[in-house]
Amino acid sequence: MRAVLLEESGSVAKYLRETTPDNPQEAGPLLHAMWKELGASRIVGVAAAPAMDASGRIRNWPNRPEYRDTEILAPLFAECLSPLILDDASAAAVAEHFSATADACTPSTSVLLSFGTGVGGGLVIADRLWSGATGQAMNIGHVPVPAAAGRRCSCGRQGCLQAAASGRFLDQQAEQLGLPRGHVAESAQRGDVRALELLQSVAEPIAQGVLLVQDLLEPDRILLGGGLLEQGPLFEMIVQTSQDLGIVSPLQLGRWQTWAGALGAAAEALRQSGLRLSRLFNEGSQPKYRIALLQGPNLNLLGEREPAHYGISTLDEICFHLTGLAGELSCHLYCFQSNHEGALVDWIQERRGRLDGAIVNPAALTARGYSLLESLTGSSVPFVEVHLSNVDARESWHQESCFAAAALGRVSGMREIGYEMALRGLVRHLDKTRTLRPS
Ligand code: DQA
Repeated sequence: MRAVLLEESGSVAKYLRETTPDNPQEAGPLLHAMWKELGASRIVGVAAAPAMDASGRIRNWPNRPEYRDTEILAPLFAECLSPLILDDASAAAVAEHFSATADACTPSTSVLLSFGTGVGGGLVIADRLWSGATGQAMNIGHVPVPAAAGRRCSCGRQGCLQAAASGRFLDQQAEQLGLPRGHVAESAQRGDVRALELLQSVAEPIAQGVLLVQDLLEPDRILLGGGLLEQGPLFEMIVQTSQDLGIVSPLQLGRWQTWAGALGAAAEALRQSGLRLSRLFNEGSQPKYRIALLQGPNLNLLGEREPAHYGISTLDEICFHLTGLAGELSCHLYCFQSNHEGALVDWIQERRGRLDGAIVNPAALTARGYSLLESLTGSSVPFVEVHLSNVDARESWHQESCFAAAALGRVSGMREIGYEMALRGLVRHLDKTRTLRPS
């Protein structure tokens, strides 16, 4: 069982790992203890290998039948806000997606194929997880591929991808060939021909699965993950076989390996709570400043809404670009938008004392958003007011601002570039006040 603490900036702050207990009754309290050790955040996402219902009860887990009907998440769920449960491959797809897109400013589409004991898949379309109408999408493990023809699958059918390309299959084959179980990769690396042939026989059905995904979805990239991919030259073999099949979609190895599920579940839970998380990275050095990018009502519609005033960039694109710039300036950026003033106030209050500055586009709250204003001044958060349109050239109500006098400064009319100017200006201001501050 793995758990991670994911900061709102996208930085992975802590990792925890425990062995799944033999006694199912011990698992719930253990998960609860892990959650406490990670700081007991009320926003929780769960990546589950077994089939679970929404209350956190295990419906079916072929690998651990003794866990059937266990309320494994009940102690934890009693203490958090509408927890999210995802299947582990979908969750892993989110983690890998937001790591692979680190240098892009536009939303993209990726598929993760995950090869562990079984085979699963996850699909992120234009930066949004698609799990299907009933949560069963991307069940790629049970799609037939030619190289698995005639092989019996655990689902009862024949010829599924999983029947010829899973950890279980590799172990069985290794045993039959007399190769040391769990050491196929090492044998292959030493040049053992049987091990190399075995890995090649696994690369083939995987490449056929990749071809299917490319032909059906044509994603920006196809990511491969799961324990099986840690088998020495297997990834290179898949790339080679894919090229032979004419696959042109970029193939990448996932970077989070066995942590991808927990991390993606945390990321998706944060995203569903309203945070626009767009990049995941390992916590390196502490950020210089923690800066909030706050956006008021209707700014979720950017890109479609009155482009003559607000331009064509979407909110996701703006957040993505600014998160990248914040990283370059050694800062962490927390992006939050709401159509409700109270939600913005709550968000700021919850972070009292933990923000060094803010960039705020109050939108239609600009003239009279007193409670939003006072949440900023009351928390002593220096902020820059930003408007995409040139509010001074518009009707008089657009020109009124109760924020202007309390702001460090105002940027208006520069469209999305205004956010960049505000961020650079805010960081310069913080640098200056910091050096002026007596040590
Ligand atoms: C805005 C200007 C506001 O007057 C308007 O209500 C908005 C957007 C801007 O960014 O230009 O919603 O803040």
